[in-house]
Amino acid sequence: MLKGTFPIEKFKALQTPFYYYDTDLLKEALNVVKTEAGKYNYQIHYAVKANANPRILSIIAEAGLGADCVSGGEISASLRAGFPASKIVFAGVGKADWEIELGLDNNIFCFNVESAAELAIINEIAGVKGKVASVALRINPEIDAHTHAKITTGMKENKFGINIGQLNGVLADLKQMEHVKLIGIHFHIGSQITDLSSFQALAIRANEILEELEAKGFKIDNVNFGGGLGIDYHHPNHLPIAAFDNYFAVINKLLEQRPGLQVHFEPGRSIVGPCGSLISKVLYVKEGETKNFAILDAGFTELIRPAMYDAYHRIENISGDEEVEVYDVVGPICESSDVFGKDVELNKAHRGDLIALRSAGAYGEIMASQYNCRKLPASYFSDTL
Ligand SMILES: Cc1ncc(COP(=O)(O)O)c(C=O)c1O
Repeated sequence: MLKGTFPIEKFKALQTPFYYYDTDLLKEALNVVKTEAGKYNYQIHYAVKANANPRILSIIAEAGLGADCVSGGEISASLRAGFPASKIVFAGVGKADWEIELGLDNNIFCFNVESAAELAIINEIAGVKGKVASVALRINPEIDAHTHAKITTGMKENKFGINIGQLNGVLADLKQMEHVKLIGIHFHIGSQITDLSSFQALAIRANEILEELEAKGFKIDNVNFGGGLGIDYHHPNHLPIAAFDNYFAVINKLLEQRPGLQVHFEPGRSIVGPCGSLISKVLYVKEGETKNFAILDAGFTELIRPAMYDAYHRIENISGDEEVEVYDVVGPICESSDVFGKDVELNKAHRGDLIALRSAGAYGEIMASQYNCRKLPASYFSDTL
């Protein structure tokens, strides 16, 4: 069983569970995304929601990316980590007044506006401050991302974005507003998208919308395709870098060029997902009547994706090399959804073995909770451990 390489001797001295980040892999992903995006002069704003660990954020800021934020807290974290305000975009269906004020006070690049009601409030708050807010309309493009229902965002029934049928009304409102300036359009259709045909459909929809806006006399300088590129959770050792090359090539092929049009993306998972692992210990091996359980000291409090999205993470016994046995790998939380994987093949597990849950760099540590009065997990980095 091919496993990731981990500094196991160093791990033995640490209290589990904890997150371990391979900073070389993160930097490699950043190099690839920059090189591939650079071919077309695409702008990249890292989606902070995927992982806001301060060290991770500062490595990404140092690489020169912008930030995609969905809360005032994320704007503050991004500024602290060194992202310039001029590269911060701010999305979210429920921006509170103080969050809008924070964005305006820091002169962020753009508010990605998700409703007519929100647009009116941004106009009002900007007016009080004597400012003009740069806005992009987040349009719900009605495109199926062919991913898990809980991470699909671009369908009519989802709460995100302005429905195409309501766009004309919002544009009419915009013409009356003095404190907002339309600089672009924005989409985000979902996450963990591995079928690139969804992005093909999105590029074609963007052409249609841009044409319609131009016909109405709006000059659109920016189109933002959001995030969503998936990673290979099944093969973290063979395929640790997401398919940025194919992704950008698809958009470049189908999006009609327009003079002065700047294209933006907001990848999260594809940048940080592969570099993180949740490291845990086997507390008990419980032999049930129909199956064996490997009970870990990590649970959904540290990594909620399997419980929340039925997500798969590759699980490895990094201490063991005995013959493979089959276990349900579970956590200690008092909920029956606290299961990391059923019928998982692991090298024979013993109390104290270290277990790695791979590809946990995105939507892992950031979603940790203190349910059951548990401690939040620590984090360690390959270059400083
Ligand atoms: C507006 C927006 N942009 C970008 C992302 C990042 O998506 P991903 O991590 O799939 O790249 C998300 C995630 O939900 C999002 O809501």
